[in-house]
Amino acid sequence: MDRRILIVSDIDNTLLGDDDALRAFVAWRESVSHDIRLAYSSGRFRDSIETSIRQTPLPTPDAIISGVGTEITVTATGEQLNDWPPHAAAWNPAAIRDALRGQWGLELQPADCQSQWKVSYFGYDLSDDDLQRLRDTIAQLGIPAAVVYSSNRDLDILPADTDKGSAAAHLAEHWRYEQTEVVVCGDSGNDLAMFQQGFRGVVVNNAHPELKALTGDANVYLSSRDFAAGVLEGVQHWLERMGK
Ligand code: GLC
Ligand code: MG
Repeated sequence: MDRRILIVSDIDNTLLGDDDALRAFVAWRESVSHDIRLAYSSGRFRDSIETSIRQTPLPTPDAIISGVGTEITVTATGEQLNDWPPHAAAWNPAAIRDALRGQWGLELQPADCQSQWKVSYFGYDLSDDDLQRLRDTIAQLGIPAAVVYSSNRDLDILPADTDKGSAAAHLAEHWRYEQTEVVVCGDSGNDLAMFQQGFRGVVVNNAHPELKALTGDANVYLSSRDFAAGVLEGVQHWLERMGK
């Protein structure tokens, strides 16, 4: 039986990393009769993602979730969902930057990685304790915020309840997909939230330990292959589980 599924996949080190494997994934998708919608979810912003779509075998997706879940754009209409992100009213990026200046050795990422909804730093090897104290510091400002740490380096501070997981859920709801029809794929910390929404998950073999720790979760498939080959293996696994 043909299935209707929505794949929400990270880009860097998940779909991108091995162009031949990505071409094989694209060819597979074109060869099957399942109704497969594809959305990208990246820490990068749209311009940068669109450059990668032009310069690599990445196909044009049906939607782009960019800036670690802060922006959701539907390709067919070019429409950015405007009821997103949540908690925008109480958000104050300038106050966050002031409070974190000079703390934990944080360095602001370049200007093209910052937006109205995303304050991003490089912060190397932060411990759980550091992250807790950082969350407390922001809570004391009275700003509802989400703190996302990836790859032992990238620290994103976003409006509360905004991350790749809630954004994927918002898109799935917008398009009326059931949780069990959504397959999420990733390799690093900012992807973790996508695995906490009741979706089917695929962790590529080259993933960071922060995602590999998800083994044992019945909704998470740990691929034996890297990058897009791992995505393909995982998506095929879930399609088989759904009974084809
Ligand atoms: C991407 C973004 C960066 C972010 C990181 C993790 O690399 O460019 O700003 O911190 O993803 O989410
Ligand atoms: Mg990645």
